[in-house]
Amino acid sequence: MEPKPFPTLETERLTLRRMTQADADGLFVLYARPEVVKFINLEPMRRVEQAKMLITMFEALFESGRGLRWGVFTLEEGHLIGTCGFKEWDPRRFRAEISYDLAPDSWGSGYMREALVAILDYGFHQMKLRRVEGLVDPEDTRSHNLLTGLGFRMEGVLREHDFIKGQFQDDMVFALLHQDWEEDNQKLED
Ligand SMILES: CC(C)(COP(=O)(O)OP(=O)(O)OC[C@H]1O[C@@H](n2cnc3c(N)ncnc32)[C@H](O)[C@@H]1OP(=O)(O)O)[C@@H](O)C(=O)NCCC(=O)NCCS
Repeated sequence: MEPKPFPTLETERLTLRRMTQADADGLFVLYARPEVVKFINLEPMRRVEQAKMLITMFEALFESGRGLRWGVFTLEEGHLIGTCGFKEWDPRRFRAEISYDLAPDSWGSGYMREALVAILDYGFHQMKLRRVEGLVDPEDTRSHNLLTGLGFRMEGVLREHDFIKGQFQDDMVFALLHQDWEEDNQKLED
């Protein structure tokens, strides 16, 4: 069977598409910002080669069927302002983990919410996900607001679940079920 092509998604203000090595400069600018890597196990990037390696890792994620990572581009100018996607995809259990980042200059405009609505719709309908999880640092209040605003529920805390930049960190578990998503969308339509 032919593998599915990488999906391009369009929203009111954004294009979400596969990143290629031609996007390395844009990705480097994004990941050179300390605010963007604050809650993940990466130091701010110093060389564009690191962005090229990350794109190769995103390609491998897709090719291996373990997830998808979209580049988030402005629809009009085509600027890379962030990334988002699914990882730890387990099709047999119909679940995956969501993850995302946005350039700080673009915070506070609803861009990531808009991007996540599109990929959640793709995840629940095309990938047939039943449950999407988000593991979030307790201090990452922007993520808490983003996920709860989309209907995710906080289910508990995994103590010392992560080891980031030499420190053990708790993870808050947020989850959204397909049925929650459909019920919320139904309420919006009524
Ligand atoms: C997490 C992250 C993506 C959130 O970014 P964000 O800009 O706060 O999120 P959104 O794009 O959904 O925007 C929401 C904000 O836009 C405002 N907004 C403006 N116009 C809006 C619109 N049309 N629709 C929705 N919200 C809008 C909201 O009021 C909210 O602002 P507030 O936080 O001041 O109340 C960002 O902080 C980030 O990249 N952090 C670093 C990476 C990270 O922590 N990733 C998590 C690890 S998995």
